[in-house]
Amino acid sequence: VWLLLGGVVVAETVWIVTDFFRPRRNRRIDDGGGSVLIAGPVDRFEPGSVTAFPEGRFYLTRLADGGFLALHRECTHLGCTVPWISDEQRFVCPCHASSFDITGDVLSPPAPRPLDVFPVRIENDIVKVDTARPIKRDSFTGSQVVRS
Ligand code: FES
Repeated sequence: VWLLLGGVVVAETVWIVTDFFRPRRNRRIDDGGGSVLIAGPVDRFEPGSVTAFPEGRFYLTRLADGGFLALHRECTHLGCTVPWISDEQRFVCPCHASSFDITGDVLSPPAPRPLDVFPVRIENDIVKVDTARPIKRDSFTGSQVVRS
């Protein structure tokens, strides 16, 4: 019985470890070394909305003017995952209470800079986000917004 239980523990451990390192295949395409996630058609996202993409570690925000930003979900203070608080219309970090507006700009410290962004492109009215590497920024500027 002990050998059988030991075998089950080893099998579960191997399964968990291999599953952890296996690449995710859902909605991703290889794009010349990057990892592009297809978020969906432009019309799927209402102006003024925030949509979480946990598999890509980002929020896709559509600003009131129709522009898009893909915000890395990690706080720029110490890296906690930052949830969107819909009622307050801002991101609030649960670790040390930094907050960010819908563009990822800092509303309250200790976060030293805005949330990082991932490159967004729109092709044939489909929003695509390259999640290979977040881009640091010192402030929000209109040039970071992608429009169709
Ligand atoms: Fe977010 Fe410290 S990690 S405020």
